[in-house]
Amino acid sequence: MQTSRREMLSILAAAGGAAGLSGPAFGLLSTDPVLAAFEAAAASDPWTLGMADAPAGGRDAVAERLQGRLPSGLSGVLHRNGPARFTRNDWRYRHWFDGDGMVHAWRLTPGEPVTHHARFVETRKWLAEEDAGRFLMPTFGSVPPNSQGMRGPDDMNAANTSVMMIDGALMALWEGGSAWELDPDTLESRGAKVWGEGLSGLPFSAHPKTDPDGTIWNFGQAPMQDALVIWHIGADGQLRRADLVGDVPGGMIHDFAVTDRSLVFLVGNLMWDRARLPYLDSFVWDDSRAMRVVAIDKADWSQRRVWDLPPGFLFHIGGAWEEADGTIRVDAALSDNARFATEGARDAMRGHVRPETDSTSRMRLITLRPGGRFEQAEFADSYAEFPQIDPRYTGLERRFTWHVG
Ligand SMILES: [Fe+2]
Repeated sequence: MQTSRREMLSILAAAGGAAGLSGPAFGLLSTDPVLAAFEAAAASDPWTLGMADAPAGGRDAVAERLQGRLPSGLSGVLHRNGPARFTRNDWRYRHWFDGDGMVHAWRLTPGEPVTHHARFVETRKWLAEEDAGRFLMPTFGSVPPNSQGMRGPDDMNAANTSVMMIDGALMALWEGGSAWELDPDTLESRGAKVWGEGLSGLPFSAHPKTDPDGTIWNFGQAPMQDALVIWHIGADGQLRRADLVGDVPGGMIHDFAVTDRSLVFLVGNLMWDRARLPYLDSFVWDDSRAMRVVAIDKADWSQRRVWDLPPGFLFHIGGAWEEADGTIRVDAALSDNARFATEGARDAMRGHVRPETDSTSRMRLITLRPGGRFEQAEFADSYAEFPQIDPRYTGLERRFTWHVG
């Protein structure tokens, strides 16, 4: 489906889903119960440090202690990103995914101490809320007191989900709006990345894939339109093509896979229903329908194959590859529910962990055969998330996936 830039922009206007809505006005608040619960948990549970607020401003430190030994010849910079500011004005976000992104750089140089530098991504949201001393915008899972209406998704862009180098620029990635460009040395923000005319603010997911030839594929989701924006970027960081592909059901999609021929989307059963605040509440669990898999032809985005699998939900995919007869093999951390998204990541803001909501995904290898047939095999009967593959094998047959257990 070819789409004009004007239509793309109309998608963008709706892509916030809740654009135009604003939160209810609150009167004077007594103690925020979520903040109080978190502080109580933090007093006794060191694990909660991972959900605590990081101090603002850039930070430089030299590692005082290094356990083990760095492999010889290992040198470079490890960048990471994650939510790190959850509280302002004594009010705490309700969902882990809401925290403002902080990008870290660990510099590894043989024979020298490891150094760490971190800095919040200075999104428009971050800058405005630093100024105001309170949260101003509804976010993915929260509606702060007296929050404002949004004009578009970048108003709530927390740039907190992952990080990627593209042709020498560091991108702090979210999924509902723009990539945020940073200076890779200083971690200072340069601003929202605009890939081309008319493409400002379109959703750009946090999990782009780099083909062996260096070109980059990504997607952004417009679930209320049952549509995806597909991005194809050259190894030189220049946009090759962006376009809208319709008729992909609006189940929340966080990650995807590529093969040498296809872009593969697994549409989980947390489905777009209607615009509500917070944005997460616009989705409802619906296991009366299949979990649709859509494979889009990289060479012709109008060509696709589909499979209907039993209902399920996922955040992350290991990878995929495709065989001569068109069979696709894809592995993912699959769950039969979305309770981590809807409950577990909310409990975490209170400092609570519940294995029954937080640890339900398992690694599964799905074989998608021609004609809509498929088979599934579960690897191991233990919790799995954050599958990773050797990036040199992106889209290619491989033997290994690494994951958190
Ligand atoms: Fe992710």
